[in-house]
Amino acid sequence: MVVLVTGATGFLGRQVVGELLEHRYDVRCLVHTPGRERMFPEDSVDVHYGSVSDPAALASAFLGVESVIHLVGIIRQQGGATFQSVNHEGTANVAAAARNADSVKEIVLVSALGAANNPGMPYMHSKWQGEQAVAAGGVPYTIIRPSIVFGKGDEFTSMLGALIKVSPLVPVVGTGRNRFQPIHVNDLARSIALTLGRADLRNRVVEIGGPEQLSYNELLKLICDTLGKFRIPFHLPSWMMRPNVWLMERVLPKPPLTSEELRMISVRNVAETDAVAGFFGFNPRPVGGNLDYLKEISFSEGIKTMAGFMPASLRDH
Ligand SMILES: NC(=O)c1ccc[n+]([C@@H]2O[C@H](COP(=O)([O-])OP(=O)(O)OC[C@H]3O[C@@H](n4cnc5c(N)ncnc54)[C@H](OP(=O)(O)O)[C@@H]3O)[C@@H](O)[C@H]2O)c1
Repeated sequence: MVVLVTGATGFLGRQVVGELLEHRYDVRCLVHTPGRERMFPEDSVDVHYGSVSDPAALASAFLGVESVIHLVGIIRQQGGATFQSVNHEGTANVAAAARNADSVKEIVLVSALGAANNPGMPYMHSKWQGEQAVAAGGVPYTIIRPSIVFGKGDEFTSMLGALIKVSPLVPVVGTGRNRFQPIHVNDLARSIALTLGRADLRNRVVEIGGPEQLSYNELLKLICDTLGKFRIPFHLPSWMMRPNVWLMERVLPKPPLTSEELRMISVRNVAETDAVAGFFGFNPRPVGGNLDYLKEISFSEGIKTMAGFMPASLRDH
């Protein structure tokens, strides 16, 4: 069975490809930046190049495909790549390509916990619009909405790890009591692979997260403990951070925080704590004890990250 993975070279995508290969699927990858497919063992996957904004490239990539795992999504807008063009219209293009390819039997869309019809939150709104396009597309679908995803190469904990590494004071937006339910990237990848062929999950939205709901303050403490650092949190209302973040977004290539992330940080982002066990029959790993990759962040990598130049050694794209 041929499974097409879009966003295959991303932080989540490469783990999904690994899971699918272990399950002995024939994997086809839609690769956005030519050359990045070299991360996969030679001849292990079939490669098609293209963008989700290019219907002709999609039509060719979809030939003979039975299942689609659509992972392409951006959380930071850059140049012409906007939430609308990638998360909404790109997903609509994928849904149309799936419908036009007679062979496609199912599409798994990775959305985000918090996706909603709320234009005030442009990222979440675009993810919701993408969901709508898939649901209206006419191909049986499963929408997976994960909470934040952690693991080596992620953005969220790597950024916090870099901050904690270099700064004795750690800014916290608001009270820091807002809860998240981080899921490890390998557990999410496994859940996605296990979604294929699941008739009981057809045309459903599946909200998942890790085994614990952690406040931002608790997550910071876990990272401090992992890195063996004592840090003093100082709480700032989000309105006070907004001008700085606005400026950083305009001058830094990779700002430590974007306006969109600042908005999302104060929105509750949790599912049921037994969601993965309930839907997929295994227990995902907790955050505590699984952050060791942050110990590899050097002081100079931390400085570069805080200066808006996160090195490829921490996150390679
Ligand atoms: N990471 C999280 O915490 C998290 C939480 C909830 C939901 N999600 C969702 O999970 C999905 C995967 O996230 P991720 O963290 O793995 O993202 P990521 O690391 O940024 O990977 C995104 C992938 O999409 C590709 N891509 C970007 N624009 C494209 C385009 N126009 N056409 C084709 N491919 C394109 C990228 O290729 P290039 O690098 O070559 O451009 C990359 O392979 C996204 O939909 C995201 O919204 C992530």
